[in-house]
Amino acid sequence: MKKPITRRSFVRAAAAGSAALAGWNARRPRVLAAETARPAVLGGKPVHEGGWASWPEWQQAWEPEVLDVLRSNRWFRGGPGGRVGEFEAAYAKLLGAKRCLATASGTTALLVALNVMDVDAGDEVIVSPFTFIATYNAVLAHKALPVLADTDPSSLTMDPASIESRITDRTRAIVPVHIYGMPCDMDPINEIARRRKLAVVEDACQAWLAEYRGRKCGVLGDLGCFSFQESKHLPAGEGGAVTGNSDDLLDRCHSFHNCGQAHGSFRGDKPYFTRGANYRMQHFQAAILLQQIEKLVQETARRRENADYLSAQLRQVPGIQPARLPEGSRPVWHLYPLRYDAQGFKGLSREKFIRALVAEGIPCGGCYTEQYNDGLLDETIRSRGFQRLFSPARLKAYRESFPELQGNRQVCATTVTMYQSLLLGSRKDMDDIVEAIRRIQAHSEAIAKSA
Ligand SMILES: Cc1ncc(COP(=O)(O)O)c(C=O)c1O
Repeated sequence: MKKPITRRSFVRAAAAGSAALAGWNARRPRVLAAETARPAVLGGKPVHEGGWASWPEWQQAWEPEVLDVLRSNRWFRGGPGGRVGEFEAAYAKLLGAKRCLATASGTTALLVALNVMDVDAGDEVIVSPFTFIATYNAVLAHKALPVLADTDPSSLTMDPASIESRITDRTRAIVPVHIYGMPCDMDPINEIARRRKLAVVEDACQAWLAEYRGRKCGVLGDLGCFSFQESKHLPAGEGGAVTGNSDDLLDRCHSFHNCGQAHGSFRGDKPYFTRGANYRMQHFQAAILLQQIEKLVQETARRRENADYLSAQLRQVPGIQPARLPEGSRPVWHLYPLRYDAQGFKGLSREKFIRALVAEGIPCGGCYTEQYNDGLLDETIRSRGFQRLFSPARLKAYRESFPELQGNRQVCATTVTMYQSLLLGSRKDMDDIVEAIRRIQAHSEAIAKSA
């Protein structure tokens, strides 16, 4: 890590007329200002004024397609084709997947995928704890136990080394989560799954177009699940998809999401030969999604470029650590996270750092908390159903295992996140973020003392 640039070292070098400094100064012209200006939280002028892109966005050009669905009197996906069918084909192509099934949401995509991978009552599923709560809920809805692997503090994703010790004779599947659009290290996860005969369902709900070693997230395991909820990079208010390369699995997914009706190769002698639910997407959702695919591709490139720049700059700030990415992976940054070490900021707490950064006009926040301590899993353990399905000893050991999640605890306590639309800004906007952080660092002692 490079040493911080102090004003004194800057002036000394400038006086020496260093040619090297001229290059350095051209690249980082605003560092000096960051050190001298009063932080906004202490009454100074914010570094960034003028706000950021709002989300979601809509375009007038999309209206005819939505109206077309309205006037067609064909709003739900009965039968093949229509906008939902078109979207499925387009999304599969985008991902390099053989098949895609559109669903009502990311949660329902997970419900479908877990069902098709035969997760049943009394089973166990190994999941990432650092995720939106829907990942836990999808497992619980099957009356299966979400067993929490630990989080690698450097990458914020499932630590493959923590998986095997959590496998029991009831484990059926692993659900890695590509959190914030950062791919999990899938090779070791898939290797464990193959060897231990477990299914892999990727929670790619935040990872549209993310890549791992030349392939897109969503086709790296048995099935992948996506969300198109309003905050997402490809939004339709609500929406989701299951993706994969197996016709058999995708036929089963289609059947389950459509009330258990036969689909493709998956059929029986009678109409209601299998269980199912209604998790269908509407044509309205698909009409909105179809029109945003090119936008997603372009914006993903922009977010990547800005995030790469930001990471390169922030790596030079002591106390700030951008996430480590698995070799050969390309994230898409649903949120941009950084690990905050208060020691680099003279003990300034993460909460005060966030408040100071927001005051500088840089919207940011914390991250997922240790949700396993929030009561949801205690309620599960106490429930009639789970007490029938699992022994008291298993439930006790399960509850007592949460404090073992040391990596996850660290991540929850130290991560700061910025919303994806910040990464749609200009290079100057990225410089504002860096300048704001440097300014807070230069004044961290005074900020720490302030109320
Ligand atoms: C990681 C993760 N998993 C699952 C979901 C559930 O998706 P949805 O909200 O579309 O049901 C989300 C959505 O926020 C998510 O971020």
